Amino acid sequence: MTSKPTIDCNGVATWLAEYSGISAGIIGHHSLQRAVGKRLEATGLDDSEAYLELLLVSPQEQQNLVELVVVPETWFFRDRQPFVHLRQHIGALIAGGLPSQPLRLLSAPCASGEEPYSLAMTLLELGLPADCFRIDAIDICRQSIRKAREAVYGKHSFRGVSEAEKAQNFQTTPLGLALNPAIRATVHFKCANLMRCLAETGSNYDVIFCRNLLIYLEEAASQHLLESFASLMRPGALLIVGSAETGKVPSSLFHPIRESFVFGFLRREEPSSLLPAAASSAAALTASSPASARDSAHGGVAAPASPRRRERPARQPALETGAQRRRALRAATAAAPPASQPRSQAATLARSAAQLGDPTADNAVARTAGRAGSSGEPATGHELNECRQELERNPYCDATYLRLAQLLELRNQTEEAIDCLQRCLYLQPNSRQALEAVIALTKQAGQIERSRQFQGRLARLLP
Ligand SMILES: C[S@@+](CC[C@H](N)C(=O)[O-])C[C@H]1O[C@@H](n2cnc3c(N)ncnc32)[C@H](O)[C@@H]1O
Repeated sequence: MTSKPTIDCNGVATWLAEYSGISAGIIGHHSLQRAVGKRLEATGLDDSEAYLELLLVSPQEQQNLVELVVVPETWFFRDRQPFVHLRQHIGALIAGGLPSQPLRLLSAPCASGEEPYSLAMTLLELGLPADCFRIDAIDICRQSIRKAREAVYGKHSFRGVSEAEKAQNFQTTPLGLALNPAIRATVHFKCANLMRCLAETGSNYDVIFCRNLLIYLEEAASQHLLESFASLMRPGALLIVGSAETGKVPSSLFHPIRESFVFGFLRREEPSSLLPAAASSAAALTASSPASARDSAHGGVAAPASPRRRERPARQPALETGAQRRRALRAATAAAPPASQPRSQAATLARSAAQLGDPTADNAVARTAGRAGSSGEPATGHELNECRQELERNPYCDATYLRLAQLLELRNQTEEAIDCLQRCLYLQPNSRQALEAVIALTKQAGQIERSRQFQGRLARLLP
């Protein structure tokens, strides 16, 4: 038996490392030789030198080679624990108040889509409406991205997924299990090289999963990628890497989460805020505020104000619009809950209506609140506390956020009231009442652009 002549792949290996970060030493020189051998056959070229010349000028050939050297191995809920942690992290964000924009998640590399779809299933199971988050997913392998978009999977994609989970999210087809279209629609795929495409990717990610890629990369490429990710993440944002990759994550940029089998990190805010004492005293200071859960999701590192929250009022409120905004808030908090709302939300809303002076209200707290609501007297701390306690018990109650917004507004805490309305809108993005109220308040606070954006959202609601 004659063995195949060895192909000199040094030039191709150097090109591969520069282009994709992939190290020939790590994927194995034999693998690279096999791939180049196949491409020599396909192109009819004689040797690796001629092949390298083609490679340097042909994006098509570059793609052809990359498709042969990547390792697209993946499956749903791989390692499981990172998704359990994600659930807690997002749950805490919701409880503590969300940024003004939809949550942004990135799965990079995503291979054939099992990972970003697992992220989507986790968020949807948590009760987040699909328009409250956006998942981007990137991989260099065109074939994998095609498969990801088709979203029909065979049994190897389901290692460790229960039959119940499969039945809930997939339909059986002759070609395999097809993911439900609603889940499919939440992920935006892109075929791109992570070494080159991140400058075009938006920033402010709340979560990045970058698993089982760093192990194949040259050290410098790993560091470059992690630094790029850091620059795209909000302070406190969550980074998950693969089990063998935690040692590559620079401690100057990320703070490790000490939880087994999560392989998680939080984006540091700035070096000075990272001292354990500073982090724990920040957590203690915020423990009783509605934002505390969000901060604790950030490992005690205070979340930054979102750009919108930092917007300065352009002018002081006028009395006339002050009355308007109270009307808008009153209307919002007194509205009937949609039939689909959970029972506890309906109950809170009913109580809110009573507290706003409903003549049928028969308890003392409700009557006091009713007077405050109608005369413009400041709301009592007791009522505010009651709302906050209610939110601690049930952080997903949009009606309580509406009620709290009304109470805060009565105390002229306009910014805080707006913040509550935004939280409400995260939970109930199509709440006409909350939109009307936040439009009035942001306009009142001189945040004209912001107000316009909410008006746009309101206009897009179906009648
Ligand atoms: C083992 S899979 C990991 C998939 C998923 N993150 C997981 O852990 O299950 C590695 C993926 O990295 C992709 N990849 C390798 N180099 C890349 C690069 N420079 N840019 C984007 N994707 C790359 C490959 O195409 C492959 O699909």
